[in-house]
Amino acid sequence: MATDVISLIKEDHRDVESLFERLQKMPENRPALLAELAAKFIAHSEGEEDEVYPVLAKRRPEEKEEVHHGAEEHHEAEEMISRLLETAPESPEFDTLLHELIDAVTHHVEEEENDILPVLEKAVPFEERVQLGKAFSKRKAEVLAAPIKPRSRTKDELLHQARELGVEGASGMSKDELVAAVRRKKQEQG
Ligand SMILES: [Fe+2]
Repeated sequence: MATDVISLIKEDHRDVESLFERLQKMPENRPALLAELAAKFIAHSEGEEDEVYPVLAKRRPEEKEEVHHGAEEHHEAEEMISRLLETAPESPEFDTLLHELIDAVTHHVEEEENDILPVLEKAVPFEERVQLGKAFSKRKAEVLAAPIKPRSRTKDELLHQARELGVEGASGMSKDELVAAVRRKKQEQG
């Protein structure tokens, strides 16, 4: 039977969860596991943002906010991956950062599977979802063939996050100040 884009996305989610488990259990294999995670996470995210999210936003304009939020979370997770790539795998800091990444991605996967994918399933018929799956896989392959390049949040995304979190004076802040303020607010709010 043909595979639709929703199954492909969920399969990637399970794959990332298994990489997280191995990263925690096999510290000696962290360099290779982290490189694999970085490549796969970025390819999956770009595939979704380029091929899947726009279709959903077009069919269901009321989902635009949700779709922006999803992309914002991808970019934030990629910033964490960048920091991990620069951190010694055997250091305590690596463990802290890895935990932060696992928490953030677990939250994102839950939101995607509970809020985004069920809407996509209703909005797009199966045959079209199969075609969408092909486009998603093709885009992922292109990203996987290129050097690993984690992205970061745009200033607009940071401003949006800061406002959602209730950071005061956000509109006058620089990008670095926004990063710090969002981080502080998230820690405060647990
Ligand atoms: Fe995603």
